[in-house]
Amino acid sequence: MPSRQPTSLPQQPAYRLGTAPFYSPLRYPGGKRKLANFMALVLRANDLLDAEYVEVYAGGAGVALSLLFGDYVRRVHINDIDPGVHAFWVSARDHTAELCQLIRGARIDRGEWERQREIQGNSNAGVVELGFSTFYLNRTNRSGIITGGLIGGRDQASIWKMNARFQKDDLIRRIQRIGRWRSRIAVHRLDGAEFLETVAPRMVHRSLLYLDPPYYVKGQEMLYANYYGPEDHARISRLVSKLRRPWVVSYDDTPEIRELYRGYRAVTYGISYSANSRYAGREVAFFSEGLVVPPVPDPTRLTVADVERLSVRMGSRPRLRLGGTLST
Ligand SMILES: C[S@@+](CC[C@H](N)C(=O)[O-])C[C@H]1O[C@@H](n2cnc3c(N)ncnc32)[C@H](O)[C@@H]1O
Repeated sequence: MPSRQPTSLPQQPAYRLGTAPFYSPLRYPGGKRKLANFMALVLRANDLLDAEYVEVYAGGAGVALSLLFGDYVRRVHINDIDPGVHAFWVSARDHTAELCQLIRGARIDRGEWERQREIQGNSNAGVVELGFSTFYLNRTNRSGIITGGLIGGRDQASIWKMNARFQKDDLIRRIQRIGRWRSRIAVHRLDGAEFLETVAPRMVHRSLLYLDPPYYVKGQEMLYANYYGPEDHARISRLVSKLRRPWVVSYDDTPEIRELYRGYRAVTYGISYSANSRYAGREVAFFSEGLVVPPVPDPTRLTVADVERLSVRMGSRPRLRLGGTLST
């Protein structure tokens, strides 16, 4: 584990507001896309550029896709316990053309929405059927929440209609890109704790694990189908503290979480949740011992140019540039 700290970083780099682009086809309240460039800087600062990057609670996996497409890591692991989310990632990676064809031909209306909802409860649904249903509901429901209700309401009387987030051409392009990089994407469907106990210890040593568990407070309001109680969060913190690979954990900033990760370095930042309201919350990220934490004032506001510039100052090696592998 490198112990060197970057020396001459400027206190206030000249940030532009732009952050990582939207690469994920899925919408997530509190999605971490805005941390992607910071995570790239963490990888560079720790000489982890040919590492594997692991998202244990992947959701939309915006950070993973950004790091992969930017060639910052060799391989990404996308883990999510939700069967629908898992089916979506498998479909996007392995059945790209079929999924895109379903999207191209999809009717965006109430009848189709009802049909896609029924598929969620059908235990005989095939992987592409379930993956497409999850994608469809994620793009047509409020805040992307599967049980969140239709954008614009059932009568579609609002200015925003259910097609407001369903730009087919753009979404198909995002999915085709995932298909092209399939040889460098691993998909898992394990409970986070089980992943930490069984898969994490067998990962290559040069791996960075990122955990974005269900929120401590918001999680209890059932934002997602799966949520954690206080004892689950405590168990995760115990497992994380035993990891033999570098890690980053992010959470809503609460005293209980601060207590669980006491002793680890913490960085706070603002993030906007579009679930229920457009309220911006404070989050906190914790870092494993020995990991160099780039000292930037706001980790959500770095641009790729900032990453390159700060990396040069840190004496980090250039990116991999392995490129995507066309496989379908
Ligand atoms: C906070 S979201 C992650 C958002 C993600 N970081 C992003 O940027 O899109 C939480 C995700 O964790 C998944 N999840 C919830 N409980 C889980 C568990 N016990 N194990 C693995 N995944 C879980 C949910 O299905 C959801 O997709």
